[in-house]
Amino acid sequence: MLLEQEIRVGKLTVSNRLVMPPMQTNKTNGGRVTDALVEYYRDRALGSRPGIIITEHSFIMPSGRANERQLSIASDDMIAGHKRLTDAIREGGCTAFAQLNHAGSNGVGEPVSASGVNIPTKKLQKRPRELTVDEIVSIEDAFATAAERAVKAGYDGVELHCAHAYLLNQFYSPLTNKRRDAYGGTLENRLRFLIETVARVRQAIGPDVPLAVRLGGADYLPRGSKEEDAVKAAVILENADVDLLDISGGMCFYMRPGHAEPGFFSSMTEKIKAKTHIPVLLTGGVKTVDEARKLLEEEKADLIGVGRALLKDANWAVGVFTKQE
Ligand SMILES: Cc1cc2nc3c(=O)[nH]c(=O)nc-3n(C[C@H](O)[C@H](O)[C@H](O)COP(=O)(O)O)c2cc1C
Repeated sequence: MLLEQEIRVGKLTVSNRLVMPPMQTNKTNGGRVTDALVEYYRDRALGSRPGIIITEHSFIMPSGRANERQLSIASDDMIAGHKRLTDAIREGGCTAFAQLNHAGSNGVGEPVSASGVNIPTKKLQKRPRELTVDEIVSIEDAFATAAERAVKAGYDGVELHCAHAYLLNQFYSPLTNKRRDAYGGTLENRLRFLIETVARVRQAIGPDVPLAVRLGGADYLPRGSKEEDAVKAAVILENADVDLLDISGGMCFYMRPGHAEPGFFSSMTEKIKAKTHIPVLLTGGVKTVDEARKLLEEEKADLIGVGRALLKDANWAVGVFTKQE
């Protein structure tokens, strides 16, 4: 597989295999899109022309906000700002995905989670309150409404954030999910909230808009989720009509303890790729274009995400996909 090769994600054709993964920039004004934010995305779209730019996580409802500077997609008056982002991203010929998030106990709202259990890797937290089933259903509705807004704003696809110790990930991880009802216990039960959300979002966006899930597949902590769980979850997600598996870490956030090599989640994506038929995106530790190429050649994944390197340098992949003046 070549970095320059196009790829189908659901019904969407993506022009190359480089992805700019979601990264919060702190450039919003109280959650609203600013000129600086539009410029930031335009610079990366024109400078590096990744096939997909996934914009930074957006909160779907005020109670699910991660922090004060996080981008909002929680009300209809945010649509116009997001439209400016998708227009800027399209200037580089890139496709745009919106990442939708509820922070759960990892935010500034009332801490709620799968169970009354703190995130093991986060200090100084108030113990969260366990969500009721009615609340779960209303959060699923908020994800669906936010996804509709994303489509109205011109995004080509939407991504659900089930990684990095946020709410959907708190349900997936056995470290934070101790529920005894249908949303806890077995892997299938711990995935129920996510799978129901996938179904609600699919209903809202229709069959043609690609739906991605960022799965914090493994916690890499004692008694946490394991790569083998991620493989089973990936199969369940594929069967639930998900179009793209964006693989990252869970309670260890986006890092893998003891690993800094290019593609430090590749042992997980390789196993997932072997058991699924939809595109798998690998992100983490890639610093050079050659490293991205090598991971694709070795079939560790179908797409490669490059985060911090693109954050630092908008022209990280200058000239790779088109001859630039
Ligand atoms: C400043 C910063 C903000 C981030 N914000 C998000 C985010 O909004 N959503 C998300 O899923 N991951 C987020 N991440 C994780 C990145 O998407 C990516 O997985 C991580 O940086 C590892 O890739 P890299 O080694 O290429 O940087 C963020 C990372 C950084 C450095």
